[in-house]
Amino acid sequence: MQRACGKAILLGEHAVVHGVPALVVGLDRGVEAVALPAPSASESTLSINHDLVATSAQDHDLALAFRALLAEAAPPSPVQVQVASALPVGAGVGSSAALGVAIARALAEAFALPPSLDRDLAHALSWERIFHGNPSGIDTAAAACGGCLLYTRGSPAEPLRLRSPLSLAIAYSGYGSSTRTMVESVARQKERRPAVFAKQLDAIRSLVSNARLALEAGDLVGLGKLMDLNQMILAGWMLSTGEIEQLCALAREAGALGAKLTGAGGGGCVVALCDGDPGPILGAWRGGGFTCFASTVSSLRRGFAPWHRAMLAGKKIFLRIAVRKNVQERPCSARQREAAAA
Ligand code: MEV
Repeated sequence: MQRACGKAILLGEHAVVHGVPALVVGLDRGVEAVALPAPSASESTLSINHDLVATSAQDHDLALAFRALLAEAAPPSPVQVQVASALPVGAGVGSSAALGVAIARALAEAFALPPSLDRDLAHALSWERIFHGNPSGIDTAAAACGGCLLYTRGSPAEPLRLRSPLSLAIAYSGYGSSTRTMVESVARQKERRPAVFAKQLDAIRSLVSNARLALEAGDLVGLGKLMDLNQMILAGWMLSTGEIEQLCALAREAGALGAKLTGAGGGGCVVALCDGDPGPILGAWRGGGFTCFASTVSSLRRGFAPWHRAMLAGKKIFLRIAVRKNVQERPCSARQREAAAA
């Protein structure tokens, strides 16, 4: 059984596509996958939450992504992959990246390959490209590593030590969006006004750099203000919506230290930084008719939440269930892995 977690981007989505560092956390809900070699079968199959969703012979996006991953992983025989996912699809919490990472890991496990973060990330990225075109890799890094990461495109993710666990609340705006479409719309703005766009990237670079310092110093009030500022730039890129603005306002009125869209925008989720108890923020969102959950992020190495076992037992888990457990952190560069093994 292999795992990968969902993600929330604290600061820097979209800018990360253009080379600016971003801050991302792994969520304590995600995906579990198991792969069984099926030597007598003619094609590989993928089931998610007990439904057969793709075979390697089909041509819809999920099947193409599955085939792309299989082409990279090159298993010696067809496989049956079974996945349990507790992440909403197209909502900005990294569902597709978590699926890609968990399946890549399950394939490696099924054929007794030694663990390799770089291999699993590369395989998961081939899956992600089918859905997102040219992803930065931030979602797959968070899915694979968990914890809190500083991520720069093309470089190994840098795990950050948190002074204290982060208490987050996450709400779904009610509809998803296409990451590919949102990334393309930002790219068009870059083409139209390159000088303005470059200044906006510089601004986000400073926000992320200050947010890193705030995180490491345990300055949550400062971190929240930086998230709010990032939301203003994202809204300027036309990535916010009425529902996202409403969720941010409700969260701030209920005591959030900061709130912003997370992921591609144009729908999807809002992440709010809580001052301890997420209860009042979740209550305000639920009062407004939104589904939401809480998540605690720690840089400590901890186990995954019990929802995995419930999913595999066939029970349905809804987004509105509040989970407050810590996430797993894995060393993310060769040096860090060696240090952890020593
Ligand atoms: C999507 O979760 C994050 C984006 O920055 C796209 C990417 O980094 O590939 C919008």
